[in-house]
Amino acid sequence: MDFADFFAIDRLSEHDEEQLIESAMQLQQVMMLYEAGIREIKTKLDILSDESRISGKPSPIDSIKSRIKTPRSIIGKLKRRGYPISLQSMMENLNDIGGIRVICPFIQDIYTVADMLMRQDDLTLIEKKDYIQNPKPNGYRSLHLILEVPIFLSESTRPVRIELQLRTIAMDFWASLEHQLRYKSDIEIPPQTSDDLKACADVIAATDEEMQRIAKELHVLE
Ligand code: GTP
Ligand code: MG
Repeated sequence: MDFADFFAIDRLSEHDEEQLIESAMQLQQVMMLYEAGIREIKTKLDILSDESRISGKPSPIDSIKSRIKTPRSIIGKLKRRGYPISLQSMMENLNDIGGIRVICPFIQDIYTVADMLMRQDDLTLIEKKDYIQNPKPNGYRSLHLILEVPIFLSESTRPVRIELQLRTIAMDFWASLEHQLRYKSDIEIPPQTSDDLKACADVIAATDEEMQRIAKELHVLE
């Protein structure tokens, strides 16, 4: 089956063809809003990083990654949660269509960055989940924020929600590999293996604490 067959574009009535184009354009506009939201927050993070660099202090940010959810994965999640499949529904019900991951050197950098963002009065904090203070039972640690950022268009202002995950290099190491193992393994993870993964997370958390203590001892961190 080729692409045109799949969409049956050659068999659409003129009216249906117009509707398909209209829907595609609306989706494109919404995805553009999320891309803009990611750019806005990334710029804020870059400015915070530049500010530290210029004042000769180590940056609280090691690296930043971002991603936009694919239409397939958006629809999959709406269906799983029993929400209607529409642009309005995805904007209202999903908070992780646009996602940014901020990787910090030390644990306290995570809170420095989060506090600096939450002080900016054009950003609204919608939700905060602190999986560092309260790790998930499987050992997952990160600080999750849902932030709403206004996107200024020519004739209107649209708020978009962006999911931020802030974690240390060490937390990212564990979360990335755990995610790979969970999705790449064809077998269900046995309880003993979950315990082993949790033990790895705890060793990493202890190392994070120790590295932070050393950084303070060396006056690299205040
Ligand atoms: P989602 O439907 O996954 O968005 O759940 P939620 O809305 O309850 O959000 P939560 O804050 O718990 O998790 C959101 C995201 O954090 C996930 O999509 C993952 O990227 C990440 N995450 C959460 N838990 C884990 C975990 O146990 N392991 C890994 N590797 N990542 C996790
Ligand atoms: Mg998610």
